[in-house]
Amino acid sequence: MLPIKKIGVFTSGGDSPGMNAAIRAVVRTGISNDLEVVGIINGYDGMINGNVRPMATTDVSNIIQRGGTILKTARSDAFRTHEGRAKAYAFLKKEKIDAAVAIGGDGTFTGAHIFNKEFGFPMIGLPGTIDNDLFGTDFTIGFDTAVNTVVQAVDKIRDTADSHNRLFIVEVMGRDAGFIALTSGLASGAEDILIPETKTYYNSILQKLKHDWRRNKRTGIIIVSEGDDSGGAIELANHIEKSVPDFKTRVTILGHIQRGGSPTCNDRVLASTLGYEAVISLLKGKHNVMVGQLNNKTSFIPFEKAIKQHQTINKSLLEIARVLSN
Ligand code: F6P
Repeated sequence: MLPIKKIGVFTSGGDSPGMNAAIRAVVRTGISNDLEVVGIINGYDGMINGNVRPMATTDVSNIIQRGGTILKTARSDAFRTHEGRAKAYAFLKKEKIDAAVAIGGDGTFTGAHIFNKEFGFPMIGLPGTIDNDLFGTDFTIGFDTAVNTVVQAVDKIRDTADSHNRLFIVEVMGRDAGFIALTSGLASGAEDILIPETKTYYNSILQKLKHDWRRNKRTGIIIVSEGDDSGGAIELANHIEKSVPDFKTRVTILGHIQRGGSPTCNDRVLASTLGYEAVISLLKGKHNVMVGQLNNKTSFIPFEKAIKQHQTINKSLLEIARVLSN
């Protein structure tokens, strides 16, 4: 690998709180190591369309506490094509960008991996997604903020659920992964938690509700992950209304509120540490890996592994949540 003099940093895929803190860390670590740093706007689309801006230390002032991403983000269809990637490579060469830091999730790393295979362009990844579904890191940047947002919302929903004796079905994000549902469900005392990693049996949900009704429990919260095989909150509510009509059921879909907001202290620290490590590791010759943290130690996972393997969910938390919510 040639000596690195100029690096690009970009965010890609769904935004997550803490991405700005990561950008700040990359820019400032780069500059303090005498690198020229540019921000690539709109993820891979920015590489293809030639959309970059120089980044100075002051360009990342006052952003550590801001949600979203100052570099914008996108899910690029063009980068899925060889033609798009060739255009991106030509632009990076023209701009004399030697390497890049990619902040995103598995889609982002899939792109980085293919790009490296085709053109040998060095990239290093930072796990930026609220889903916490990436193999090779205990936590992803944004997860902690997202679950805290969910818990705050569910606490509020609980107040009105209690006042009206209602059963609320709350749908949270996580297309293929139940980390948000499981963690926030346990933390908010949810009566049931439905996640894609386990099969959902309508019968056992209904039985539990009937049991609750018999012992005069009139209110409750069921947290369902959007990717759960029950079909999501609306389908579940319809089913419950038909089978246990005694319960007054309401649905709340939290949606993109989970992706925004000021990052928690944990997310800022994780983003800052990993952003710093990413640049230092690039300078030491590491690339084509995601930088994460396992048991409080920096970890390096090849993109290929981070994409193919899945973070395992701690299913015993479901049992704990079940016992404690009785
Ligand atoms: O990957 C992050 C995520 O928020 C998922 O939890 C969710 O399924 C998806 O992105 C939604 O994507 P979009 O904002 O493109 O609809």
